[in-house]
Amino acid sequence: MRLLIDAERIDEGISRIAGEIQSRYAPRPILLVGVMTGCLVFLADLMRKLDLAVRVEVVRASSYRGGMTAGTLEVDWGSLPVVDGQHVVLVDDIFDTGQTLSALVTRFRELGAQSVASAVLLSKQGRSRVELVPDFVAFEIPDLFVVGYGLDYQDQLRHLPYVAVLESQDLEMTEPKTSERDSKET
Ligand code: IMP
Ligand code: MG
Repeated sequence: MRLLIDAERIDEGISRIAGEIQSRYAPRPILLVGVMTGCLVFLADLMRKLDLAVRVEVVRASSYRGGMTAGTLEVDWGSLPVVDGQHVVLVDDIFDTGQTLSALVTRFRELGAQSVASAVLLSKQGRSRVELVPDFVAFEIPDLFVVGYGLDYQDQLRHLPYVAVLESQDLEMTEPKTSERDSKET
């Protein structure tokens, strides 16, 4: 694996977007909605840097069916938080094709959110297939498959405290895919 963004730079990037979120919304309260599972580490760090009235919810979505290729988007539409009248900020690990965030933004608007914005740790250049542009981006990265800081390869490596590029020689060191469940969460 090749280190792309170390823990110290991640912390700086998140502090910067926390400041941007703060200036956009304060003193209004916001609802952070994390997209599980990739949002976990980013969401935990981001919310602790916000000096605002913050509520936190999560949604489940998946699109990476194991490996490094995108699959069909699946969202657990049945268990969305109540967003009526709220300023929603969606939080995800990475903006890749943009499918996930675009679908969620559309749905939350339909559900009556007062505003819907999105915050991502990473945005991959040249990959977007949607009109939506994420509002808060900590880092723009090249089109590479990355892991760590919440991002997984076949549900592994999320725990790394930095972002690294997964290269082909790294693939043999990860456990083989054992079930659908192992590869489903994003
Ligand atoms: P989308 O293509 O923007 O909808 O991204 C869907 C999801 O794919 C993201 O939330 C991530 O969980 C996952 N994903 C996209 N690119 C990468 C990557 O480089 N590494 C790990 N997961 C990724
Ligand atoms: Mg994700």
